[in-house]
Parts: sequence; C-alpha cells; structure tokens
Amino acid sequence: MRLLVTGGAGYIGSVVAAQLLEAGHDVVVLDDLSTGHADAVPAGAELVVGSVADPGEALGRGVDAVLHFAGTSLVGESVQRPELYWHTNVVGTRLLLDAMRVRGVRRIVFSSTAATYGVPQHVPVEETEPAAPTNPYGASKLAVDHMLSGEAAAYDLAAVSLRYFNVAGAWRGFGERHATETHLIPIALQVAAGRRERLSIYGDDYPTPDGTCVRDYIHVADLSQAHLLALEAPQPGQHLVYNLGNGAGFSVRQVVDVVREVTGHPVPVEVAPRRPGDPPVLVASSRRAQHDLGWTPQRQLAAMVSDAWELARSLPD
Ligand code: UFG
Repeated sequence: MRLLVTGGAGYIGSVVAAQLLEAGHDVVVLDDLSTGHADAVPAGAELVVGSVADPGEALGRGVDAVLHFAGTSLVGESVQRPELYWHTNVVGTRLLLDAMRVRGVRRIVFSSTAATYGVPQHVPVEETEPAAPTNPYGASKLAVDHMLSGEAAAYDLAAVSLRYFNVAGAWRGFGERHATETHLIPIALQVAAGRRERLSIYGDDYPTPDGTCVRDYIHVADLSQAHLLALEAPQPGQHLVYNLGNGAGFSVRQVVDVVREVTGHPVPVEVAPRRPGDPPVLVASSRRAQHDLGWTPQRQLAAMVSDAWELARSLPD
C-alpha cells in the first residue's frame, strides 16, 4: 500500500513510518516540523512539509490510507492553552477527513490516548470504560474518536482509534527527541546521564503500593506493530477502538529503579507536589487488540529503558 503518515517526523510516527517501509509499503510523510525533525523521517519516505489542515498535496500522491499521528500531545500544555488543542487536533483532523473524502481515501488509523478515559473506575481499563477525559488533550482526542465514528457510519470510512498508554523506548535509531521533555523515562535518563540534577517525583501520597503513580509502559516498536495490523482490520463503515498497553503497572519509583539498574548510574530524586490531572493508576487491558488483531507486545520495561538510553547517548546534547 501507499500510506500517508501525518506526524511522521515525530517520535511514534517516525518509528511506524520505518516499520511500514520495512514491511514493503510506500510512505509519504506529512509533517509541519513544529516539533518533529526532518532527519527523523526514515530514508525511503517522501517528506511533504506542511499542515494536516492542508493535506491536498500529500494525499494527491496516490495514497491508499492514512496513519494520523500529527497533533499536540502534552497534557499540561493543553490545560494552559486549550485552544491550541482544539484547533490542531480537532479542526486539523476535521480538515484532513474532509480532504480524504474528496480524494476517495477511505481508510485511517488514528493516534488516540488513554487520556480519553480520565480517571478510570476499573483497572485494567477495557475499551468499554466510560470516556471522561480530565484535560483538553484527552477531550480533543475523544472528539476525534467521535468524529471517526460518524464519518465511518455516514461515508463508509474504515477507521481505527488506537488508545495508547505510556509509550517508551526507541527502535533502530528512531525515538523520543522532544525539545520540551515532560515524560518520566526520558527525564530519568537525562538525570542518569548527568544532564539534569534530579528527578522530581510528582506525589508520593497516592493510593498505590509505594504512594507513587502507576502506569502501563509499552515499547514503541510493539505499539508500531499494532498499527500495521490495525491498518487491515476495519471494513468500510466500521470504526474500531483498541487500547494498547502491556497490561502491567509500574510505579514511578519502580521505573526509576529500572533506570538505575539499566544505566548503572545514580538517579537522585526529590518528592514534589502532585501534578494536576494525574490519575493514580492507569493500566490497559489490551485483550481486544490481542484477540482481534493477533497482536502481542514482546518487550518489557527494561528493554524500553535500555533502548531509549542507547538512543539518548547517541544524540548530541
Ligand atoms: N512523573 C514524575 N516526574 C516527572 C515526570 C513524570 O513523577 O518528571 C510521573 C507522572 O506524574 C506520572 C508518571 O510519571 O505519574 C508518568 O508520567 P509521564 O508524563 O511520563 O506520562 P503520563 O502518564 O502523564 O502521560 C501519558 C501519555 C499522555 C496521556 C496520559 C494519560 O504520555 O499522552 O498518559 O494520563 F495523556
């Protein structure tokens, strides 16, 4: 197939683009390079620099389906600047879907998020959990999920929303290179590398075994594999939703311990106040994805940390 990967210069999009090429697909990347890096676009992919709001040129290159990663994805920023999230994620995707309809491109895989569930009542979280996002980021992704359901029913789109839990790790030189880093594992690795003095643990008074938040970490290469499988899954008119996680929870302190073990370096920590909007425990049930897509995550937390560590050490400061 010939695939359009929006956001293919970013963290997850670049890994998926590389795996699609390896599987024998043709890839066109559409990215405005606002947070992505042109040199993260894998060799062999065509790069169109531009916005998802104006995807005509990229879609016009004989595209059969779209994998849509482009968007804004920081919870804290979404609280500070909600309009940016509604504009980029919701308006941007609306314009992309309109352009896809005009050009007869009727298949899409969308990057949704565990943040659509808010603070879940049941853990592990199934797809039947009520959606109740607690920030504009999660709300904007949920709005797109609804948009896809409507578009599938009315206009025969074949659509999949993949709800990611905590993505980590790197794959063959492709990985996380955020200018503004907010995620736990990259920050802990920066501390291990001596690039930061210490890690702030956001709250140690949660109702969890050691008081710190529990998350479900999934390797970006496993996550990416699910996209390749999901691409073929829906029939026209169907919108499928899948949670993607490893199904195991690790606390912030446990993650820091793994970082210490893998890197062999100290990681000094301090306890800081809770970060607003953090659910105490988020662990996925990926039973539906495993059953329907035949997908099984292969890599554990230590591999995510060591792959991310290897990439971080290969990049300039
Ligand atoms: N944390 C710290 N210190 C840090 C950074 C993070 O203690 O310096 C903690 C957070 O409070 C949280 C855990 O580490 O408990 C993981 O935090 P991340 O920022 O790495 O990831 P989140 O769980 O906040 O975010 C993920 C996805 C989002 C999604 C969110 C849903 O990255 O896209 O889950 O809650 F919206």
